[in-house]
Amino acid sequence: MAKYKIAWLPGDGIGKDVMDAARIVLDTLKLDAEYIPGDIGWDCWIQEGNAFPDRTRQLLHNTDCCLFGAITSKPKDEAQKELVPELQGKGYTYTSPIVQLRQEFNLHTNLRPCKAYKGNPLNYRDNIDLVVFRENTEGLYVGLEFFPLPQELKDVFLKLHPKMKAFADVPNDEIAISTRLMTDKACKNIVREAFKYAKMKNRKSVTLVEKPNVLRETGGLMLRGARSVAKDYPDIPFSEANVDAICMWLIKNPENYDVLVAENMFGDIISDLCAQLVGGLGFASSGNIGDNYAVFEPTHGSAPKYAGMYKVNPMAMLLTCKLMLEYLKEENLADKLENAIATVILEGKVRTYDMGGTNTSLDIAKEVARKIVNSD
Ligand code: NAI
Ligand code: MG
Repeated sequence: MAKYKIAWLPGDGIGKDVMDAARIVLDTLKLDAEYIPGDIGWDCWIQEGNAFPDRTRQLLHNTDCCLFGAITSKPKDEAQKELVPELQGKGYTYTSPIVQLRQEFNLHTNLRPCKAYKGNPLNYRDNIDLVVFRENTEGLYVGLEFFPLPQELKDVFLKLHPKMKAFADVPNDEIAISTRLMTDKACKNIVREAFKYAKMKNRKSVTLVEKPNVLRETGGLMLRGARSVAKDYPDIPFSEANVDAICMWLIKNPENYDVLVAENMFGDIISDLCAQLVGGLGFASSGNIGDNYAVFEPTHGSAPKYAGMYKVNPMAMLLTCKLMLEYLKEENLADKLENAIATVILEGKVRTYDMGGTNTSLDIAKEVARKIVNSD
């Protein structure tokens, strides 16, 4: 029996292309794993009215972790229209399977490293090495949303908060509310994960990204939690930045930052910014990590226009495999893979279109595999 069972979920579009590239590299590394394929994404939604079928949920329960490609998702009205006729009008509603995964498996930590590998023509600047820790289950993405605004809720707001008076006369079907829900536990947890990582990997600082001067309650809760956790790590410099300001600072002086930690939406935004500093979606890897399970995925989506063409850059997926290997405590294999990736980028002989080349996703994977073999 293999040492690990890994759920293999290519999903939609280029998810399949980059997973094929991943397999070449994992096989070359001889990771002792059984890869068990599962269904997720748009086809499942169209055919079954559920983008994350129960059989896939079960598969995840029976595996050590999951490697995930990408999914397609579309706005509410389009999603309804694309359902097979038998399922139309039966009350099915689309929810993003990745959001479901994160919440159901309590994958509270979203880890997104953004490193400028030497020789990458897409680097904004060399010497950028950032790691974003994003809280993955709460905040504005918690899904507690209302439209039209239920009268009951409006009445409660009117009773409890003077700010609501200004909206008392706006018709309910002209008001939408999304709730930013944050708990002390999740705030402290994500900050602790960031500090633990900083300590383990000898990183130089941790910066909290928030907006507590405006979002006084949720931002304040995060700020107090972060400060209390930081006290447990007196050797690691801790700083605080407002989310808007840090978008400027990250462009001006990205070298000044190291580990960044934020709630869900701010983390989502700054991690895209950080990814672009080191080559964009073709290089952006991520892990969704909980106490008992983890799902690893490149940050990019399904890029439908390139689906099946093996045109996109698989580096994001290969770097994602490196994160998975670290999670499995296969540090040697993780290092071997990262060194091979770094060498291929430095040599610059094979490049996908985004790096100005004409090679395929599989060419890149095979070249990385060759470097792995050569290093043995
Ligand atoms: P996308 O990330 O799929 O692609 C945007 C553009 O970025 C592509 O057209 C391509 O030019 C470039 N790109 C993406 N990955 C690349 C790679 N590996 N190498 C080189 N270039 C790459 O985002 P888009 O077009 O906004 O969304 C497409 C679909 O993916 C939508 O249905 C969206 O909902 C979904 N999506 C899914 C995500 C996920 O699975 N976690 C994340 C983001 C979007
Ligand atoms: Mg995003």
